[in-house]
Amino acid sequence: MPERPALVVAIDGPSGSGKSTVSRRVAQDLGLAYLDTGAMYRAATWWCLHEGVDLGDGAAVLAAVRLMPLEMGVDPTAPSVHVDGHDVGAAIRTPEVTGAVSTVSGNLDVRAELRELQRAAIRDQASPRAFSAGRGIVAEGRDITTVIAPDADVRILLTASEAARLARRAREVHGAADSSSLAATRALVVGRDKVDSAVTSFLEAADGVVTVDSSELTIDETVDVVLSLVESRR
Ligand code: DC
Repeated sequence: MPERPALVVAIDGPSGSGKSTVSRRVAQDLGLAYLDTGAMYRAATWWCLHEGVDLGDGAAVLAAVRLMPLEMGVDPTAPSVHVDGHDVGAAIRTPEVTGAVSTVSGNLDVRAELRELQRAAIRDQASPRAFSAGRGIVAEGRDITTVIAPDADVRILLTASEAARLARRAREVHGAADSSSLAATRALVVGRDKVDSAVTSFLEAADGVVTVDSSELTIDETVDVVLSLVESRR
């Protein structure tokens, strides 16, 4: 088996930049696998809550995460997350998990643990028997372009203005971007990014990482920009 898949695309960016939607669409278009690393932190959080682990106890959280029986489904048309046989796709998006995930993702030992799982998931796509049959993977999330896959063929920081990101999340969560839903969304988007930026850097592009600003772009347009970047690197 080759040591690495034929193509690795790494996409990072703040909440509401569209990185999940864009990454899935790009993976679908190119016949690649898709890895949502944020879902892994969410799964770890769900697992700790499910197991009754005190999230304030870093060592207990690490011990639980080490034993977490996690299975990430990497088909971009139907990405899935299973823990101990439970389909937790919906459970990891609840406000309870969303409100707690930064505590888990801020634990540096947990990050080291999940980082290895993320690298393994990328490497696995080198196999002809893997979902992508060796074609490769689009992996998205914090640290992907710099720490997890700094050798990716294409590294992108997907950004958008704070106003654009807030409006998108408000429409997603509340169905509208009026003043009350914008206010309710602010803590989720701006607040969480602030907490997360204590342990990861995703607001500025590192050397060799291309910034794509999606503030004025539709999803289709953003996907096209990413696809042409991939094309130019092949
Ligand atoms: O992208 P998301 O909202 O599903 O991410 C969930 C949380 O995990 C968020 O607080 C950022 C964090 N995260 C991280 O620290 N490292 C990653 N590679 C992905 C997500």
